Amino acid sequence: MNTSYKPRLAILISGKGSNLQSFIDAIQMNVIDAEIVCVISNNPDAPGLEKAEAAGIPCQALDHRQFPDRDSFDVALAELLEGYKPNLILLCGFMRILTPAFVERFAGMMMNIHPSLLPKYPGLHTQQRAIEAGDTKTGATVHFVTSELDGGPPIIQAEVPILEGDTAETLGSRVFEKENLIYPMAVRWYCQGRLSLSNGRACLFGRPLPPTGFAFQG
Ligand code: GAR
Repeated sequence: MNTSYKPRLAILISGKGSNLQSFIDAIQMNVIDAEIVCVISNNPDAPGLEKAEAAGIPCQALDHRQFPDRDSFDVALAELLEGYKPNLILLCGFMRILTPAFVERFAGMMMNIHPSLLPKYPGLHTQQRAIEAGDTKTGATVHFVTSELDGGPPIIQAEVPILEGDTAETLGSRVFEKENLIYPMAVRWYCQGRLSLSNGRACLFGRPLPPTGFAFQG
């Protein structure tokens, strides 16, 4: 076995890129033994592109507005990604709905993080919706990507209590802290060959995880 081989991560962003930064840091601190081979943003103004550039990672924008429709954008994105030969594709705040054809092409090798306890609150404004519903807790979920929006098999979930007087911002920032812990944890498992998608379930050491994923404590 070639021991110098490192899994190749491709990261897709649309905005700030703080989850991207958590991967840059985790690799630098040897928490994850992998290489980020590219960062691609559908938004040319995404601040995350600067984070990638500062870390010396190849990065580029592929502006979805330059394409006539979703299918042609996804074909171009898939071709661009394949050029980097990724082993794992990470959606880090990539705010585009992906076509089933794209998802199928990268089945079992694409993860997303979402700021809610899925299956609750897929989509946008998750914290506001949890507060308005009177929920006592929310959280974040890392999951494998399927063609259902924020709907693939969960890998890890972290809970965050909703406190009296919380706003979407105060709650969101506490959820964010958990995001930056659980996403690298899932990717570390994947890079160690411990985590896979099998028969529609996320499996750790070959055994299916609970339907809401591994319950992160801490
Ligand atoms: C994160 O909170 C992530 O969970 C969310 O976008 C934010 C991106 O932040 N993703 C979704 O809502 C996916 N449906 P970042 O750009 O700073 O990593």
